[in-house]
Amino acid sequence: MGIPVKMPPFKTVFVTGGAGYIGSHTVLELVEAGYEVIAVDNFTNCVCGTEGQAASLKRVEEITGKKITFYQCDLLDKPRLAEIFKKHKIDCVIHFAAMKAVGESMILPLLYYKNNLIGTINLLEVMKENNCLQLLFSSSCTIYGNPDHLPINEKHSIGNVTNVYGRTKYIIEEMLVDLSKAEPEWNIISLRYFNPVGAHHSGRMGEDPTKAFTNIMPYIGSVAIGRKPYLTVFGDDYNTPDGTGVRDYIHVMDLASGHVAAMAKLAASHLKIKAYNLGTGRGVTVLELVRTFEKVTKTKVPVQMLPRREGDIESMFADATLACEELGWTAERSLETMCEDYWRWQIANPNGYRETDTADVAAKLAAIKESHGECSCQSTVNGVH
Ligand SMILES: NC(=O)c1ccc[n+]([C@@H]2O[C@H](COP(=O)([O-])OP(=O)(O)OC[C@H]3O[C@@H](n4cnc5c(N)ncnc54)[C@H](O)[C@@H]3O)[C@@H](O)[C@H]2O)c1
Repeated sequence: MGIPVKMPPFKTVFVTGGAGYIGSHTVLELVEAGYEVIAVDNFTNCVCGTEGQAASLKRVEEITGKKITFYQCDLLDKPRLAEIFKKHKIDCVIHFAAMKAVGESMILPLLYYKNNLIGTINLLEVMKENNCLQLLFSSSCTIYGNPDHLPINEKHSIGNVTNVYGRTKYIIEEMLVDLSKAEPEWNIISLRYFNPVGAHHSGRMGEDPTKAFTNIMPYIGSVAIGRKPYLTVFGDDYNTPDGTGVRDYIHVMDLASGHVAAMAKLAASHLKIKAYNLGTGRGVTVLELVRTFEKVTKTKVPVQMLPRREGDIESMFADATLACEELGWTAERSLETMCEDYWRWQIANPNGYRETDTADVAAKLAAIKESHGECSCQSTVNGVH
């Protein structure tokens, strides 16, 4: 089969969805680790800056002092993807690009199947045409469905998924397994993320979706900053310490470093295909997250309790032992750091990567700053890494 026993180290990484939340933080980590990055994105869920550049990646350039090669490209546009791929000698691909809103995926299933599945097939075909067979795929803990046991490890069954978005991730994982069986020269890692939150500790980068968001931290942030009156929590009668759902929140920079560790693994060994959980291994209730956020940021986040939602899972947290043993990676940052870093980003960029501010938010921010200093989190900036 001609499978190399030892791969040469990678130099150039092609990142799809590289201007998005996890993508941009990972690009930063890759650049700091010495990789050259070629990023593509179609701006469906991230901010397009001046001259068609990705606003998030401009901040990466500003922080690292290095240039990022970026192309606006939709993975559904295969000729354009092929044209970009041909321009560079690419060693490895990290595939973040996907639509990810669970609720929207139930309303627009065909859009989600088309974008996530066809986009991935186009990418795999272009990779193959260019003899680039090294892939890190952004998967999700959602593919485990309702857990049989906790913490959940990679041997847990997958596929019992209740929403379209999750099914696209499950189908792609299955497709990659089939591809690997048919063409064992592929070298693929699926990284199953738990719940990424937080932001880069500089306060210059963070989460700024352009579609209506569903992730919890931006919601908590918008309540704390006065854009929303309260955080709606679904279900306070689960069998958990305070009745609210348990999740495994992981700092986005820990997730980013997990990609660098996984790439080193791909470069060093031929795995064919393997999945790793990226989580902290610690379950945290929604109310614990809210209380920690309030404590760290000295703000108030009123909560409105509503009944459980159908399909929501009571508890989900990772067994991340395999990533520790085989990738040499563990999540290091605390829940407090996740909240501090998110808040630093939020308070310094109330409109995310967009420049303008609105008067009400500006007034609220001024009041917050006055009540507890310019940024309550400043003292911990250097304690993060
Ligand atoms: N954030 C989470 O909670 C979470 C959890 C588990 C898995 N994931 C997965 O991680 C990946 C990144 O998530 P994120 O939170 O950074 O989301 P994100 O929306 O911030 O980033 C995804 C990026 O992909 C781009 N994109 C979407 N479709 C595209 C296409 N057809 N062509 C080119 N670009 C396209 C979007 O514009 C966006 O910038 C996704 O695959 C997501 O499913 C995310």
